[in-house]
Amino acid sequence: MKPLLRALGAVLLAGFMAPAFAADLRLQPLPPPAPVNAALAEFGRHLFFETRLSGDGSRSCASCHLPEKGFADGQALSRGYNGTEHFRNAPGLLSVRLKPRLMWDGRGSDLAGAVREMVLDAQFMNGETRIIAERIRQIPQLLSLWRRAFAGQGEKAELRGEQAFEAIAEYLKTLDFGETSVDRALRGEAALEPLAEEGLRLFSGRAGCIQCHHGPLLSDGKPHRLGVPEHPAIMREPLRAISLLRHHAERGLPQPMAERGDVGAYAVSKNPAERGGFVTPPLRGLAHTGPYMHNGRFASIEEAIDFHDRGGGPGSVLRPLDLGARERQALAAFLRALSAPLAPVAAPPAYDYGSVARTRR
Ligand code: HEC
Ligand code: HEC
Repeated sequence: MKPLLRALGAVLLAGFMAPAFAADLRLQPLPPPAPVNAALAEFGRHLFFETRLSGDGSRSCASCHLPEKGFADGQALSRGYNGTEHFRNAPGLLSVRLKPRLMWDGRGSDLAGAVREMVLDAQFMNGETRIIAERIRQIPQLLSLWRRAFAGQGEKAELRGEQAFEAIAEYLKTLDFGETSVDRALRGEAALEPLAEEGLRLFSGRAGCIQCHHGPLLSDGKPHRLGVPEHPAIMREPLRAISLLRHHAERGLPQPMAERGDVGAYAVSKNPAERGGFVTPPLRGLAHTGPYMHNGRFASIEEAIDFHDRGGGPGSVLRPLDLGARERQALAAFLRALSAPLAPVAAPPAYDYGSVARTRR
């Protein structure tokens, strides 16, 4: 216990020495669960697994955000809607409610807005709100979940496809990382295992990880350029290259055809200083959500640590750390201590359209 308190003391001291960071430079336990509208979240839970939100009924949110993988998909680069492939890694969704900026390039801040993009964008689900409303109307079980969720709106309540975004966002607010030994240590209830504690001291001290990885999610929610190498599949596989090109063009990049890689936050802000910047990811639950980085370039936690230790790649804001083998192991032990077992998630049954159910009876 004592060494941990000393480590936290050192962090506070470091905070005094670097006043710009002083207020933020803390690791924090997870906050209590968010208050949610239970009926709306239950409607949202069904919609999260509902393939009929996608244009051709082929995929749901759970096709790319798998509950058994912390709602990531286990692949370096995400798949896309039929006929497309994606150019970024599908992030896990646990405690996504705590993220100030969404998506690897930070282009969103509102959860329902991110859900809307996922459903409507042709690269993800290619859905259409009027068709979604009509399909929900024709599935009796979903219709009754909708009635319960929107009961307060009286007789004239109208089912609209947009309500699906609100409901799924409410469901996402119920998904949280489990409590870990690090949370118990931060609250002073139990000591960390010695190697992990050594890792915590490095993390908050000499290795300087805490400058960007702090707060309850161990993320500052801001983009930084680490110079992660491009994933070769993006330029090798035409469907991925086209998706990236389209993304850059859609964001209004001055010369989308001239770009040879993922420009990250620059496509959103058009600020040249943010070229190649990606938002610091949370460091909880990593045991479930590999491969790592915005393009899944690293398969293991160790590879990600080694990359930071080298000072990153071309144009990186990181400095080389020159950590010893034992120090890198200690950091890995600390990061592993930040993963709790996943809570089991039961997918709802697949319901028939009312008319189909009637013919079968
Ligand atoms: C075809 C795969 C695919 C499908 C289907 C999909 N997603 Fe995603 N999702 C992704 C990828 C890839 C990203 C990262 C995109 C980026 O950063 O540019 C993402 C990002 C997100 C984010 C932002 C997470 C963060 O940490 O910033 C949320 C929230 C999200 N998806 C929720 C959903 C929901 C809800 C659905 C269903 C309505 C859904 N997704 C369907 C692949 C998918
Ligand atoms: C300058 C800010 C900064 C510092 C300092 C920093 N990181 Fe990161 N870290 C990031 C960013 C940004 C990414 C994502 C980069 C990308 O995908 O292009 C990242 C990604 C990671 C990942 C991969 C997580 C995932 O889900 O993909 C791990 C693990 C990680 N960092 C650990 C560390 C460790 C350990 C240290 C200290 C040795 C550290 N970081 C220091 C900003 C930082």
